[in-house]
Amino acid sequence: MYILMHKNIPVADISIDSAIGGISKIDAVHASERLPIGTTAPYGKDFGKPRRDLLSNWWTERSIPASRDGIREALDAMGVCSPKLLLEKCYGLSLSDHYWIRPKHSDLMWENVNFFTNDFSLDVGEILFGRMPKSEGEVNFMSPDSTSDGWLRKKWIIADGKRYLMKGGSGVYRQEPFNEVIASVIMTRIGIPHVDYTLRTERTKPYSVCENFITPNTELVTAWSVKEARRKENSDSVFAHLARVCGEMGIPGFTDAMNRMLTVDFIINNEDRHFNNFGFIRDADTLQWLGAAPIYDSGTSLWHGTNAIGQNTECKPFRSAHIEQLKLVQDLSWFDADALGAIGGEIVSILSQSPDASPERANAIAKAVEQRVALVVSNSLEKR
Ligand SMILES: Nc1ncnc2c1ncn2[C@@H]1O[C@H](COP(=O)(O)OP(=O)(O)OP(=O)(O)O)[C@@H](O)[C@H]1O
Ligand SMILES: [Mg+2]
Repeated sequence: MYILMHKNIPVADISIDSAIGGISKIDAVHASERLPIGTTAPYGKDFGKPRRDLLSNWWTERSIPASRDGIREALDAMGVCSPKLLLEKCYGLSLSDHYWIRPKHSDLMWENVNFFTNDFSLDVGEILFGRMPKSEGEVNFMSPDSTSDGWLRKKWIIADGKRYLMKGGSGVYRQEPFNEVIASVIMTRIGIPHVDYTLRTERTKPYSVCENFITPNTELVTAWSVKEARRKENSDSVFAHLARVCGEMGIPGFTDAMNRMLTVDFIINNEDRHFNNFGFIRDADTLQWLGAAPIYDSGTSLWHGTNAIGQNTECKPFRSAHIEQLKLVQDLSWFDADALGAIGGEIVSILSQSPDASPERANAIAKAVEQRVALVVSNSLEKR
């Protein structure tokens, strides 16, 4: 038996099936307003009431996805058969929000266990990076790496008292870390709130490093959770639905944030802006919504896995074609194309640090980006 906690506030008594890692029962609810967003009935007579299936899903989705690069070998090394089973071992604590589980008769306090202000073990992260422990018994599982999402190899590290996420690349070009840096530069130039990424090499492999944008007083709620909090009307597109839910829940700045995110995603040809790759921030104490999260995870872009630079690729989350998704941008008056002058040169310079990108490839990517900036400009002229 556990208590689902939000910082030091008991939210619900729950039972976890330790064999499969899911929540088998909600025994009592103490603070329904603090149930994770998207885990209550989204419509009907039970609207707002906790749903065991949704809460269990939310809990298991906190675990490392089964698709994570290298997860099988890492689990074998830890002697654990599923990523879900790592959750109980770190109380489900993460560095993106303030939920955790407290054993029923324990007097553990948030101040003593959270990863924002307490040191955490680096063991799980090292194992996820392929450095195997000498024996199973040596692994300290108190790590935010057991609750990190996404399929790229990644680990949380501490430097100068701050928490940073270090994330690898994939495929032959291992381009994602460089793309994160290029996206940061573009967003800095045109003034879009974003997470800043820098490059780091570890054991000859490239990684991106970014600071945690969540603090002990704020938390990330993904667009997925917000979207699931209400039933979508058949007459609404997913975009209209998300806008409506944000309005109903009092999340400010949705339209401005989408105008900016969809524009940058068009420019970098982002293929993977799924609903967990953007979100909203709220005050973890007052539950007041603060607005959209800064843009993070822009690495699956810039034709990262192909030689066909400039070709049309998949688009997410609202449309399948980039040019169609750009039409959802309602206002481009904020967009300063001059600020992106000579961006191609900076892209080439960043990609020149990659051992896997030839100068020809870097030049082709730079040119394709400049063409897409010009397309945004012509789109904005059409709207005037
Ligand atoms: N700087 C950060 N501060 C706080 N949380 C973060 C930060 N960066 C990422 N996260 C959280 O970690 C998750 C995984 O990171 P990220 O999305 O960058 O990984 P990924 O492997 O590229 O994901 P994907 O599978 O979408 O490609 C994010 O969805 C987000 O919840
Ligand atoms: Mg992601």
